[in-house]
Amino acid sequence: YGAAGTQKERTFIAIKPDGVNRGLIADIIARFEKKGFKLVGLKLVHPTEDFAAEHYDDLKARPFFPALVKYFASGPVVAMVWEGKDVILTGRKLIGATNPADAAVGTIRGDYCIIMGRNIIHGSDGADSAKHEISLWFKENEIADWESAVHKWTY
Ligand code: PPS
Repeated sequence: YGAAGTQKERTFIAIKPDGVNRGLIADIIARFEKKGFKLVGLKLVHPTEDFAAEHYDDLKARPFFPALVKYFASGPVVAMVWEGKDVILTGRKLIGATNPADAAVGTIRGDYCIIMGRNIIHGSDGADSAKHEISLWFKENEIADWESAVHKWTY
């Protein structure tokens, strides 16, 4: 499961602590649902700084890393796995550019946030990171492989 390029492609999406605190959970989930993607994993987790550092391990040499880790561990995060054709790339399009100042209006970041250090949501940036992040955040039995009744109308 999770094979890139198929309807079973999967990505890891996290609503960061600012998105949770600002009451944006339902809106963000609705955007992915209405697009036609299928939710297969969902939980609310308050990450420790150690876990946040592990999640952002590939950025540990960057100057903003300590601030990023503190921000990500500052409150609960909604961790999700979404499934669908091209969900990794299309999910990033729904999210918008990393810097909210560059994010198009109509995208999640373009509509709801202003600065990089408070950009409310994370999405895997490729097939390798999706696989890695899903396995870091979810056990196999925490992901539901289910058939959606509207599936045949989406594809
Ligand atoms: S990279 O590796 O240069 O392409 O980095 P980039 O894709 O721009 O960003 C990777 C993640 O780091 C976050 N980021 C920051 N956080 C806080 N402050 C600053 N200045 C900053 N710059 C980048 C950025 O939001 C990305 O996190 P995620 O959660 O993946 O969006």
